[in-house]
Amino acid sequence: MRGLKDKVAVITGAAGGIGRSLVQRFCEEGTHVVGLDLSQSGLDELKNELRQYAERLTLLPLDITDHAAVKRTIQQVHGDLKRIDVLVNNAGWDVAMPFLETTPEFWNKVASINLMGPLNLHHAVLPIMVAEGGGKIVNIASDAGRVGSSGESVYSACKGGITSFSKTVAREYARKNVRVNVVCPGPTDTALLRSFMGEGEFGQKVYDGLLRAIPLKRLGQPADIPGIVAFLSSDDADFITGQVISVSGGLTMHG
Ligand SMILES: NC(=O)c1ccc[n+]([C@@H]2O[C@H](COP(=O)([O-])OP(=O)(O)OC[C@H]3O[C@@H](n4cnc5c(N)ncnc54)[C@H](O)[C@@H]3O)[C@@H](O)[C@H]2O)c1
Repeated sequence: MRGLKDKVAVITGAAGGIGRSLVQRFCEEGTHVVGLDLSQSGLDELKNELRQYAERLTLLPLDITDHAAVKRTIQQVHGDLKRIDVLVNNAGWDVAMPFLETTPEFWNKVASINLMGPLNLHHAVLPIMVAEGGGKIVNIASDAGRVGSSGESVYSACKGGITSFSKTVAREYARKNVRVNVVCPGPTDTALLRSFMGEGEFGQKVYDGLLRAIPLKRLGQPADIPGIVAFLSSDDADFITGQVISVSGGLTMHG
C-alpha cells in the first residue's frame, strides 16, 4: 500500500480479534502503530505476539469512554512520536438481547463505548491532523448500523450514528485534508461474535443460519478487515472520503 511506511497510526481496541489483525497489518506496512485498549493483559499478549515489530509498536492501556484520559494519552503520543497520520476507531462492545430486556444503564454503557468513545478520539486527534495539514480516519462501524440486527438495537443505533457522524466530519474537515471513511464488518469470527451467538445448540443454529445467508459461504475472519482499512489509510485513497464499505462476504449489498 502506498504511503503508510513511517507514518503513525493510532488504533483502538488493539487487543481484540479485529484489532490484533489491524495492528499486525499496519506493522507489516512499516507504519508506527499506537495500539490502545482497555485490556492490559490483551496488550501484553499482543506485545508478545508482535515482538518482531517492537521498535515500531507502542501499546498503551486506555478507556476510550474517558474524555480526559483520551486527551492526555493522545497528547502524550503526539509529544513522543511528533505526528499522528491515521486514526482507526475499532474498539467496540455489546451483549445481544431483545430491546425490551435492555435497561437505561445498559444503553449508557453501549453508547459510551460505541458512540462516545470514537467521538472522544476524534476530539483529541482531529486538531493534531488539522495542524499537521491532514490525516486519515477509518471508523469501524457494523452492518448492524446499515441494515439492523436482531438483539443489537442500541449497538445498531450507535453504529448508524458513527456512520452519519463520519460523513459529517468528512464534509467539515475535507478542506483541511482529513479523510474520514467507514468500514462495516459483517459477522466476523471474534470474541464479540461468539458472545452474540451464544453457546451450544442455539449458537450452532445462528452459525448455520449465517452460513446459509452469506453468499461467499463462510464467516468473516479478522484478517478479512485490514486490507480495506490499510487502503483507506493509504495515499491510494486520497480522493475517497465520507464513504461506507461493508466487508461481509456479500451478506449485505448496498447501492
Ligand atoms: N466481530 C463481528 O462480528 C463484528 C461485526 C461488525 C462490527 N464489528 C466491530 O468491529 C470492532 C472490533 O470488534 P471485535 O469483533 O474485534 O471485538 P473484540 O471484542 O474481539 O474486540 C474489541 C476490543 O475493544 C476493547 N474495548 C472495549 N471497550 C473498550 C474501552 N472502553 N476502551 C478501550 N478499549 C475497549 C476490548 O478490550 C477488545 O480488545 C468493533 O467496533 C465491533 O463493533 C465486529
